[in-house]
Amino acid sequence: MEDSITARLKRLVTSSNEVLEFRLIRSIDDLDSKETVFKPEMTYQVFGDREIIFGYQDLKVQLFYSAGCLETYLGMTYTEKVNTEYEGVEADEILTKIAAKLAPDVHYSETNFINALTKDDTFTPYGTLIHSFSLNDKGTTRRFVVYKADMSYKGFKEYHQRIQTFLLWYIDAALFIDLDDDQWQYFNIFEKYTTSIGTSRYATIGFATVYRYYAYPQHIRPRIAQFLILPPFRRMGLGTHLLQAIYREYIGRNEVKDITVESPSEVFQRLRNYVDALNCSTLPSFKPERLRKGFDNEMVTEARDKLRINKKQARIVYEILRLRATNVANTEEYRAYRLDVKNRLNIPFKRKQNEEAKIERALRNEDKRTYTNDNGLPSEEQRKEILEKEYRLLEDEYKTVIKRLEYATEL
Ligand SMILES: CC(C)(COP(=O)(O)OP(=O)(O)OC[C@H]1O[C@@H](n2cnc3c(N)ncnc32)[C@H](O)[C@@H]1OP(=O)(O)O)[C@@H](O)C(=O)NCCC(=O)NCCS
Repeated sequence: MEDSITARLKRLVTSSNEVLEFRLIRSIDDLDSKETVFKPEMTYQVFGDREIIFGYQDLKVQLFYSAGCLETYLGMTYTEKVNTEYEGVEADEILTKIAAKLAPDVHYSETNFINALTKDDTFTPYGTLIHSFSLNDKGTTRRFVVYKADMSYKGFKEYHQRIQTFLLWYIDAALFIDLDDDQWQYFNIFEKYTTSIGTSRYATIGFATVYRYYAYPQHIRPRIAQFLILPPFRRMGLGTHLLQAIYREYIGRNEVKDITVESPSEVFQRLRNYVDALNCSTLPSFKPERLRKGFDNEMVTEARDKLRINKKQARIVYEILRLRATNVANTEEYRAYRLDVKNRLNIPFKRKQNEEAKIERALRNEDKRTYTNDNGLPSEEQRKEILEKEYRLLEDEYKTVIKRLEYATEL
């Protein structure tokens, strides 16, 4: 008896990552089409670190949005729910937990949501158009636009409150920003498409937020804080276009010192490396014959003055472009490249080693009896092994960027 209750309760535990279904609705048919469903990558901010939901059998949770202005529907279905009276445990309050994170005015009735879909007929992006482009997607041409906005545009705040909730499901430790701080700038990307009856509409694709940090005496350092392309639109080059549009917005301005990124994710850093390498490859100081001579100040200055790239990122770009310019079949040339990168990777270790050496000298002078030679640092041999591993990972990463550069078209 006990066992069967335990088994039943276990059956009522589901993974919140599995049961949540998102859809962006362009037409009523999308409500039933399996192809429009996409899933969260994480749900711990809503359902806790174990990412589980308790109390339901065959559970499905639906979070649907109208594709343009993001009118929201939240609902759930299940075949059985735990019986609190007999089984003594309560089912999780799913909708309450999710709604707490969503913008206000969520629809819980499908009929009301369907009626609200018509709002997309008249929806147009907020702000000013800064970039428009077309992409070929499996034989069809799709058009996209990037808009720059701030909170002075009527209705934009409410729109942003709706789109920002996607961060919870796709960016680790994501936080909502302070919408009243006017140093934030917002970049939104949309697809401009034509419906089956020939009307023109906009569909939300993703967004980025940029904070304009002050820099002495009258400069700013724009920092990209959040950057998201919704899953159905990834791996088409849209992230690249959004980033390039943001760059163009700031690069030509004298008051901009550099453009940075707040704790970039691995995929985003790769995208940034690609765009930066593509842009730097047009600069004279990043020409192959220069790259082979090593990293120099002119590269730092040119990357900063022409593209607002900081020194650390300029160094990464140099390593990528130098690898591309290196003939790896030439033993000497390839060896020189590896050495150059490993020397850079070794800098933090060298620094630590120097600090330890200083401490050792001080201890040796102070008390010869307690002095030991064990400084906790890896041996020279171990260090070489670690460096080799670090180098290999980096080279693989650089190779993916180089591969993409090979078929790059102008952005
Ligand atoms: C990071 C992110 C913005 C990238 O957006 P995206 O639109 O997919 O970016 P792109 O399409 O320009 O490039 C992504 C990949 O698609 C590939 N790609 C681009 N166009 C392609 C095409 N037509 N066919 C096949 N692959 C393509 C690129 O080569 C790249 O591959 P790589 O990672 O192996 O180099 C997106 O994945 C995202 O929102 N992730 C979650 C949130 C996040 O991490 N944000 C950053 C926080 S700092």
